[in-house]
Amino acid sequence: MSIEEVSQQLEALRTTINQHNYRYYVLDDPAVSDSEYDRLMQELRAVESQYPELVSVDSPTQRVGAQPLAKFGQVRHEVPMLSLDNAFNQDDLQDFDRRIHDRLKSDVTIEYACEPKLDGIAVSLLYEGGMLVRGATRGDGQTGEDITLNVRTIPSIPLKLLGSGWPTRLEVRGEIYMPRAGFAALNEKAMKAGEKTFVNPRNAAAGSLRQLDPRITNSRPLEMCCYSAGLVDGGTLPEKHGDVLTQFQGWGLKINPEMRIVTGIEACADYYENLAAKRDSLSYDIDGIVFKVNDLKLQQQLGFVARAPRWAIARKFPAQEEMTVLKSIEFQVGRTGAITPVARLEPVFVGGVTVSNATLHNMDEVERLDARAGDTVIIRRAGDVIPQVVKVVLEKRLEGALPPSLPEACPVCGSDIERSEEETVARCTGGLFCSAQRKEAIRHFSSRKAMDIDGLGEKLIEQLVDKELVNTIADLFRLTEEQLIRLERMGAKSAANLVAALKASKTTTLARFIYSLGIREVGEATAATLASHFCTLEALEAATQEELQAADDVGPIVAQHIAMFFQQAHNREVIEALLAQGLNWPAIEKPVESDELPLTGQTWVLTGALTAMTRDEGKAYLQALGAKVAGSVSAKTATLVAGEKAGSKLSKAQSLGVSVMDEEAFMAFLQEHGIVMS
Ligand code: IVH
Repeated sequence: MSIEEVSQQLEALRTTINQHNYRYYVLDDPAVSDSEYDRLMQELRAVESQYPELVSVDSPTQRVGAQPLAKFGQVRHEVPMLSLDNAFNQDDLQDFDRRIHDRLKSDVTIEYACEPKLDGIAVSLLYEGGMLVRGATRGDGQTGEDITLNVRTIPSIPLKLLGSGWPTRLEVRGEIYMPRAGFAALNEKAMKAGEKTFVNPRNAAAGSLRQLDPRITNSRPLEMCCYSAGLVDGGTLPEKHGDVLTQFQGWGLKINPEMRIVTGIEACADYYENLAAKRDSLSYDIDGIVFKVNDLKLQQQLGFVARAPRWAIARKFPAQEEMTVLKSIEFQVGRTGAITPVARLEPVFVGGVTVSNATLHNMDEVERLDARAGDTVIIRRAGDVIPQVVKVVLEKRLEGALPPSLPEACPVCGSDIERSEEETVARCTGGLFCSAQRKEAIRHFSSRKAMDIDGLGEKLIEQLVDKELVNTIADLFRLTEEQLIRLERMGAKSAANLVAALKASKTTTLARFIYSLGIREVGEATAATLASHFCTLEALEAATQEELQAADDVGPIVAQHIAMFFQQAHNREVIEALLAQGLNWPAIEKPVESDELPLTGQTWVLTGALTAMTRDEGKAYLQALGAKVAGSVSAKTATLVAGEKAGSKLSKAQSLGVSVMDEEAFMAFLQEHGIVMS
């Protein structure tokens, strides 16, 4: 091959790879498999290593520079990088819109571009003749840092623009961020390696860009979304912001798929509400919405004030992270005795609510955070998730702050606390002697998915236990209106209602009853399985651990908890007392005896690969229909189910005249017999 031909071959390869890269990272619509992509890269590397003189700077093999930098250079922004004014409510947005109309002396409805405000790092990319020549951080808006080598490693940033028609010099601005999944994976890896973790995706993105060694940046899952042009020289861009972004996408740059053009400020409010509702399901963090006048001529007319444009505004979401003071660390006792450290906080408004407590999960977590009373901490509350302490601000630690220690005795009942080797959880050994556990047991017993007792709130449970009116859950049903009326915040009507609710709750289902007992590891689903497997409470109580494990999804640990629960005399006494109070549920009919099942007496064999289920699942379905499932074919085999690439078993079955079903026929057969695939 002549040098020209090789050169052409290389160019063709690079174009193909860049196209695939574009489909994958920018359009989120891959055209080839990962392995095909890897193969092309391999091929490119092989040819380039044979012809090193033909390696070009924009080759996809040249994303990672070889040598770390000693320090970052400085970049002066020819067009300053501005920031945005903030709006915190719809009124602020209305004012923004009014100011625009006043300034333009027009009452024509304005067209706005709406975009998520990505929570990352503002960056500017400079393309000359379509080639990426520089990447810079925003810095103070006038001068930033030269991070060219680092931005080159980010796959959604093209080293060379696609298509044609780009201005000779074009500066593209946008946000570099780390998607949530990549952030979680990065932190998990760091945790396993015993390294420091990042507090949030934004910090992780910032830390990754600040690396002097581009190989480190290359190992971090970063992306860039472009949101405006800076310098434009030797060419023009479309006249509307939205069209500029679409043009950018055509040139291979990633833009945010949520961008919309709307008419009027009211429509901006709708966009805000829609995106706020979607916020948690996005694959990246956003901290608000940016609204921009879509017409670039109008943008120019409007100009700037100080460091922010008049034609754009950011409506911020309520912050999901705030700083506050950790007043103390207290220990709570849960239903199963688990001792949970809880952070008592100086109340702080975060994620749209005032938070004064946050869970610390367990002592391992307290140690990991190194949290101490008096510390300044960062609290995060995202969506409806319970507030978390994400980080201690060590610089603000007061002198003499001591790490908390796990109490030696239960803070509620004084019983011993045990913390087994393998468990991170510490537990009070007091069982139902511990009033905290009793309260939690009652709360669980009466909760909606358990016995569903209306009107039995937390405060009431506190009083009932503290006044010793209720010691076990069975005592609930002995409560009288006279006793209840004497309690705080209890009127005659509520007392009567509660007694009626208790009475009504006595008729329940076996599944709810099992769940309401609060056996460790027995949630709603397991309780339902146990009920339909054992049909009666007596059968469940009498079951050995082995028999328990025969029920779906019951493993050795759950089986052990269940067996232990029923072995305890006091648990049996409570159950008897409950039954004596008249708790009842409809009898569950035993499933058909197994000799009445459709495949009873038959032996089936499964072979080859099934696509819709695993072979174990297929086996379980057959057993549910009463069949025995064997590993080899004989003359006695009723039917052979043969999946893809079935081998010797299939030929043996054929030679023995055993009936054979392919996967499709097997699926139809299962369906006919009422098997619902999960
Ligand atoms: S436009 C002159 N659009 O928000 C307009 N900024 O406080 C400048 N940001 O530093 C920015 N998403 O880092 C714009 N869709 C978006 C944005 C966005 C995030 C950041 C950007 C900027 C800061 C402004």
